[in-house]
Amino acid sequence: MKKIITLALLFLSFFAFSQQQTIDQKVEILLKKMTLEEKIGQLNQYTGDNAATGPITINSNKKSEIKKGLIGSMLNIMGTQYTRQYQDLAMQSRLKIPLLFGLDVIHGYKTTFPIPLAEAASWDLTAIELSARIAATEAAASGIHWTFAPMVDISRDPRWGRVMEGAGEDTYLGSKIAYARVKGFQGNFGDVNSVMACVKHFAAYGAAIGGRDYNSVDMSNRMLWETYLPPFKAALDAGAATFMNSFNDLNGIPASANTYLLRDILKGKWNFQGFVVSDWGSIGEMVNHGYVKDNKEAALASITAGSDMDMESNAYRYHLEELVKENKVPVALIDDAVKRILRKKFELGLFDDPYKFCNPEREQKELNNPEHTKAAREIAAKSIVLLKNKRDVLPLSKGLKTIAFIGPMVKSKRDNHGFWAVDVKDVDSTYIVSQWEGLENKVGKRTKILYAKGCGVEDKSKEGFADALLVASQAEVIILSIGENFNKSGEAKSKSNLHLPGVQEDLIKELQKTGKPIVILINAGRPLVIDWIADNMSTIVYTWWLGSEAGNAIADVLFGDYNPSGKLPMSFPRTEGQIPIYYNHFNTGRPAETETSTNYVSAYIDLKNSPKFPFGYGLSYTTFEYSDLKLSQKTIKNSESITVSVNIKNTGSVKGEEVVQLYLRDKVGSVVRPIIELKDFQKISLNRGDTKTIQFTIDNQKLSFYNNALEFGSEPGDFDLMIGSSSADIRLRDSFELVK
Ligand code: BGC
Repeated sequence: MKKIITLALLFLSFFAFSQQQTIDQKVEILLKKMTLEEKIGQLNQYTGDNAATGPITINSNKKSEIKKGLIGSMLNIMGTQYTRQYQDLAMQSRLKIPLLFGLDVIHGYKTTFPIPLAEAASWDLTAIELSARIAATEAAASGIHWTFAPMVDISRDPRWGRVMEGAGEDTYLGSKIAYARVKGFQGNFGDVNSVMACVKHFAAYGAAIGGRDYNSVDMSNRMLWETYLPPFKAALDAGAATFMNSFNDLNGIPASANTYLLRDILKGKWNFQGFVVSDWGSIGEMVNHGYVKDNKEAALASITAGSDMDMESNAYRYHLEELVKENKVPVALIDDAVKRILRKKFELGLFDDPYKFCNPEREQKELNNPEHTKAAREIAAKSIVLLKNKRDVLPLSKGLKTIAFIGPMVKSKRDNHGFWAVDVKDVDSTYIVSQWEGLENKVGKRTKILYAKGCGVEDKSKEGFADALLVASQAEVIILSIGENFNKSGEAKSKSNLHLPGVQEDLIKELQKTGKPIVILINAGRPLVIDWIADNMSTIVYTWWLGSEAGNAIADVLFGDYNPSGKLPMSFPRTEGQIPIYYNHFNTGRPAETETSTNYVSAYIDLKNSPKFPFGYGLSYTTFEYSDLKLSQKTIKNSESITVSVNIKNTGSVKGEEVVQLYLRDKVGSVVRPIIELKDFQKISLNRGDTKTIQFTIDNQKLSFYNNALEFGSEPGDFDLMIGSSSADIRLRDSFELVK
């Protein structure tokens, strides 16, 4: 106790900042006291010893380095107990600058939420913000200051395993979600319930050639600005405290040393005041890229370009001082990076109380908060996408006597968490409601549930089929839960074959012979190629990975206690040969008029152009009728806006939610424009028989794009306006003209 008080007094007396001083003044005062070595220490981030989320480069003596003030931040240390231990070390350093603790809190902390791609399928910005809010509350209660999220990389390539971490293929939806997630994580910045967001990966990482992780990206700057950068800007507008650069090279320059991205755009044009952390080892990896000769050159290139903190490369730690002494790196550059980091430490309140986030009582309370579980169940249900319900098998009747629940995912627990779930120590992190438990919870003793695994996810053997058939023969309905294991998507999980692994499709074919109704649940972290299933099976539910409450949420949807409302945030390809596939493509000079035209048109001779399931698609247990599209004016000047109104009626027999999507097409541009582009949407809830009039506003921003000179603006001319239930299910159309 005495020791703690002495430490606290020492701490207070050393800084003695006055209440009147602004954070910038405090930062300046502190900076003046720092040696060059201590400054460089702030730019240095190491992983904890327990968990590594990448290849560890050097087994350094971290603890003693912290005591010497040579480390500014640690990642992968969690829990009030452990973060306190590490913060204690920092409090023994000369200047007692608190450490920042960062972690990949991607879709929940102890309570896991659907993987981000699944959550994006909810199109429910309030729910998405809430999920990030709860994740932040739990993480912050467990000593974490900083999450490496949201990932806002647009991707049109489901081979890329990291699509599970983002919001899919669309820039508009992705930007809205990026904004919501940052708001959710950061809450009231500086509160004990909030963490800093880290927007990643800057930039264009999702366009890795061939969908192969870490691969190069080559694209025009126009495409970069129009499609890949807006979600980053939206996250910045939401107040994102930090950015992370990406592993890839962009047009030949690795992102970690990309002056155009970091200096010109992020810190220049966008005036970003927070700090940039490298990705894991990405500074050092520039040697492999062939961009620099060694770690020293890597440090020079990265600090010059604007990467402020070095995660796990040891490039800054071991080379910056020398580079300053050689006059290759001006101290002002180091000072700028240090100030950015210190500012965040002040804003978080860590100089007032370095242990602010280390309260075990709060940790206990927040990590076991039943409100969080409740929200996780609701958000999981909202993320489910009903792909087919042709024979109205769903929702299942609560009067069923026997259900056969078959498949490798039925009793799996860990899979439901999805990739990037946090392995929370010291608390019950195994809380996952399996799909089996969810169904049991739902039907109680009323219905008999029979189980057979049928096969393992990747099995080659059909040994379990007989058992599955036996069980199926005794049931009124078969629910078959199949897919791809959770660890087949995520970082470094690129795949060339997106078909269902193993003999799972054969299992479906066998069960189909029984003639019984079959509900297929497909669990995956990416769009899979499910062409055969889509053509041959009548009832398909895409469940992604839904988190802690997966089982309950799935049961809610199966029995109609929640009417599914999810819409796909990515196009589902018919086969891998269509990738990259995205709905908002250009028309080309020879567009295919029909799905079968192949005569000198832009098409495949062996495959349709359209996806199997389009962007924005998803069914409900009810139906919606769209009518009365009205535009407030048919001609506008670019200072004006159009109010669009449309009536949506629930024409089915149950309450439901619909995502009403507004798309535009700019008919002629100084650069060619997509055939259709999402520009707004609203998710509404309607009781059966009810009608709602909803309104959208089309302003100049929505009509603008980047021309070849990278100027953002609109151009006079005709626009098509489309309102639909998906990008391929346009219900109402009109047009208007933009005049000078
Ligand atoms: C990933 C980042 C992650 C970091 C720290 C890297 O390998 O690309 O997204 O935040 O590791 O875990």
